[in-house]
Amino acid sequence: MTTVIKGGTVVTATDVVEANVLIDGEKVVAIAQGSGETWSEGADRVINAAGKYVIPGAVDVHTHFELPFGGTYVSDNFETGTRAAAFGGTTTVVDFAVQVKGEALRDGFDTWMAKAAGNCAIDYGFHMIVGDVNDSTLKEMEAMVGEGVTTFKLFMAYPGVLYSDDGEIFRAMQQAAKDGTMIMMHAENGIAIDVLREQAVARGETDPKYHTITRPPQTESEAVYRSLALAEVAGAPLYIVHMSAKEGVAELTLARDRGQNAFGETCPHYLHLSVEDDIDVPGFDGAKYVCSTPIRFRSEGHQDALWSALARGDLQVVSTDHANFFYEDDETLGRQKRLGEGDFTLIPNGLPGVEERLNVMYQSGVVEERLTLHQWIDMCATAPAKMMGLFPKKGTIAVGSDADIVIYDPGASFVYGVDTIHGNIDYTAYDGMEIGGKVDTVLSRGKVVVENDAYTGTKGDGQYVKRGMNQFLV
Ligand code: URP
Ligand code: ZN
Ligand code: ZN
Repeated sequence: MTTVIKGGTVVTATDVVEANVLIDGEKVVAIAQGSGETWSEGADRVINAAGKYVIPGAVDVHTHFELPFGGTYVSDNFETGTRAAAFGGTTTVVDFAVQVKGEALRDGFDTWMAKAAGNCAIDYGFHMIVGDVNDSTLKEMEAMVGEGVTTFKLFMAYPGVLYSDDGEIFRAMQQAAKDGTMIMMHAENGIAIDVLREQAVARGETDPKYHTITRPPQTESEAVYRSLALAEVAGAPLYIVHMSAKEGVAELTLARDRGQNAFGETCPHYLHLSVEDDIDVPGFDGAKYVCSTPIRFRSEGHQDALWSALARGDLQVVSTDHANFFYEDDETLGRQKRLGEGDFTLIPNGLPGVEERLNVMYQSGVVEERLTLHQWIDMCATAPAKMMGLFPKKGTIAVGSDADIVIYDPGASFVYGVDTIHGNIDYTAYDGMEIGGKVDTVLSRGKVVVENDAYTGTKGDGQYVKRGMNQFLV
């Protein structure tokens, strides 16, 4: 099966060229100016991309489909979540398999592989959450590399659930340094946060806004600093997930200035939502946006600091941390966000975003001139692919790369609302946001999976991708 994408503007993280793209089977086999007519004559399919951008399929390296959390489950499973991702121009996700206390890493990996197998619309890989650091799981970290799992997430938050203490974290970092793998850190001082939460509830402060108030920026930046220091001593690369506090970004920047292999991601919700506008609102609506690290106060200047760190490269990746829970009770999943009505500590943490990321970042990044086209593509596709050992198979358009391609229409526009999203969820964080562009057509390994606002793929098209090592290391 050959496909020609004709007449578009091919844009990657580094280049922009008016060119045609020739796809043979699952791969890009040629990019050229002027061969369009010849290629089209013999092609099985010709896609006219005139007036549109032809960009790499986006790569979201932080999703949680079907994750058990707070007595319930993330409402998107691998079928609904990856289909929503495809609608939003994302063609690869890296989700988190969970090792629970008392079990082997291998058990967690097998469980998550089984959840995904035969269900995904797009390609997928896994990080491992190490919930139990001990001699045997440390040994297993090395073995997981053979399965294409080269990144391991640890939690300084959630005591009694996923939390690891500093000794456990340090030992896992030493193991990662030995194996050439990377630690991903949920950097929040969970012990101090638990004290603040208990005290708030005792005072009757139970509204959603107290979720943020009991997780002040210093509880993030202290953990960022501590994890950076531990990683430096261990000699391990460190990637800090879902960064939201300007003080944390400042710590990361200092470490990077010293030459440390330290990296960071933020998420669209931290760049767009605030306590003032979205959390501290009448009723219980703020619960929709309760996540950890928390949405922060706009007045404190975190968003400007995040945009600036993205633009100068101290934050490299924009991922979604997609972990959605129904706001209103769902027929199948029952009570989700409303579990925390009357007690914010019981609100399941997380929000949707896997579908919205590329469009939302185009609007507020490119249209509103905070980022160049290349930076937009870099932080949504190329940098995450390099960071997670997927490049150049994923994250770019080049001869030999997978034909994961988005045809993006800068001339279209639409407004986000619950009717314009496709996941298993009853709200979007970007309700009412006008987007001055649109994902038009999506190809996953050469197959058109989204066109004319419809899903044209088949459940199970997506394949597991074994990942290599971080390609950013200095
Ligand atoms: O609130 C969040 N971030 N939920 C998902 C779990 C995590 O910590 O990434
Ligand atoms: Zn986390
Ligand atoms: Zn997460």
